[in-house]
Amino acid sequence: MIALEAVSVRRGEREVLRGVSAEIPAGAITAVVGRSGVGKSTLVGVLNGLIRPAAGRLLVAGQGAVEGASALRAYRRCTATVFQEHALIDRLPAIDNVLLGLADRRHPLSPLPWPVAMRRQAAAALGAVGLLHRATARADHLSGGERQRVGVARALVRRPRLLLGDEPFASVDPVLVQQLAALLREQVAHSGMTVVLVMHQIDTALALADKVIGLVDGRIAFDGPAQAFDAQAQRRVFPLAAQ
Ligand SMILES: Nc1ncnc2c1ncn2[C@@H]1O[C@H](COP(=O)(O)OP(=O)(O)O)[C@@H](O)[C@H]1O
Ligand SMILES: [Mg+2]
Repeated sequence: MIALEAVSVRRGEREVLRGVSAEIPAGAITAVVGRSGVGKSTLVGVLNGLIRPAAGRLLVAGQGAVEGASALRAYRRCTATVFQEHALIDRLPAIDNVLLGLADRRHPLSPLPWPVAMRRQAAAALGAVGLLHRATARADHLSGGERQRVGVARALVRRPRLLLGDEPFASVDPVLVQQLAALLREQVAHSGMTVVLVMHQIDTALALADKVIGLVDGRIAFDGPAQAFDAQAQRRVFPLAAQ
């Protein structure tokens, strides 16, 4: 389990997370939902260790606070993030983009080709997202959905204990969303991976997640099981309109 304890984050003059305390259960999928600008991406940044809170702590069960350079490095090694814009390198083949997920596992200036064991891992990750046949295709020759799946494979190849996704299914067609959701469910069941996803579509979030965290204006407005996210919770997290 990972816990946030009274986490506050400032960006410029604004406090964009305000005393957020929440628990992220291990081996489960937690969805983070809320309107644009409420602090969802900032929360992901705190959870992957890229954003240091101005106040509060990130805690890992059995390890305590993630504080200091070496604890942070160890934490980041076990974490992978799928970004909304996939951040692929267009001129590289799909498999090389997946290998970049392992960049911190070898010397940054290594002139050598990727070791065979890592290439096998990358091929397996591409296989898991159904893209092994596109391994040698350049990223800029892939469709949007294929690029998204390469982004997921690049995260999975790290065999992370914690997988974070910042709207990983934005601009992905509904059939593919179902496929990716099923893939994540399977990975969670097999490996006990912990997953936190910022989700745009509340229906998908409720169908996929075990737990939901709803943010309004940098604060927790809902924290509970997905089944408990009822009409009242919906109005609290998405005030004014249905969504
Ligand atoms: N680099 C930044 N500098 C200053 N303000 C930022 C920066 N990034 C985001 N913000 C502000 O922080 C708030 C929360 O942003 P964000 O976490 O991206 O929200 P969300 O992902 O829910 O849309 C927003 O008001 C946004 O304008
Ligand atoms: Mg965002």
